[in-house]
Amino acid sequence: MILLLVLCGIAEAGHGDRPEKRGILLAAFGTTVPEARNAYSNLERMVKEAFPRVPVRWAYTSRMVREKMGESGRRPDSVETALARMMDEGFTRVAVQSLHTIGGWEFHDLARNVRAFAGMADGFKSINLGGPLLNGAGDIDRTARALLRHLPPERRLEDAVVFMGHGTDHPAGALYTALMVELGKLDSRVLLGTVEGRPGIEDVRVRLRETGIKEAYLIPFMAVAGDHARNDLAGDAPDSWRSILERDGVQCTPVLMGTAEMDSVAEIWLRHLKEAVETNR
Ligand code: CO
Repeated sequence: MILLLVLCGIAEAGHGDRPEKRGILLAAFGTTVPEARNAYSNLERMVKEAFPRVPVRWAYTSRMVREKMGESGRRPDSVETALARMMDEGFTRVAVQSLHTIGGWEFHDLARNVRAFAGMADGFKSINLGGPLLNGAGDIDRTARALLRHLPPERRLEDAVVFMGHGTDHPAGALYTALMVELGKLDSRVLLGTVEGRPGIEDVRVRLRETGIKEAYLIPFMAVAGDHARNDLAGDAPDSWRSILERDGVQCTPVLMGTAEMDSVAEIWLRHLKEAVETNR
């Protein structure tokens, strides 16, 4: 009898004694453009409204971004540093939310490192990862509708809207095509291309030429309107999308707003975070 009590006591002291401490870690690529960070702030505001009592931390996955930001201020954490810190501070259940758009190479690297933390002895009781924007079956349709809710109010029905996604050579890049098709079904003048994958700017040019559209709004389809948005989309260089399309006779108006700044889109990331928190029991 006494032996039994002693054994129970040991078992309890092992894990059960620690007070529950939940946390959220938002993991983004990061950006070197300070003005672009308001998109991250918007998402953070929404996360804090949804989970008012849970501490929210940030981590940037890009080493280049972390180094550059560290030159002028506090160097942001990597996911690994942020999680090690949280483990050290006694967090017991952590939900990591990816701010990626698709589950490509970067998302899978993130997932691998989160899994590594799940396997540590005397570490978190649970750690879960919320999926990228385009994750489940409903996300394509949900995202297409959300994007249409944030078109510039001055856009006339005859104007085109061109979204610029990042693009990838990862198989998950096919989701960009799926989204392009869905957008086209809802509004035939809303197009989507990517900087580094398919569909590309050539596909956008073909569509614009076919329809004879003369004016277009250019909007990044990335969490923040950072370097790609400012240079590859809206920049003055001859190979920016704006320059290419204007040479084709399309008058362009860039809208430098990241998708994390669009509440309806940010809502979809938040949905994935809620799923991750829910499984953290
Ligand atoms: Co890039």
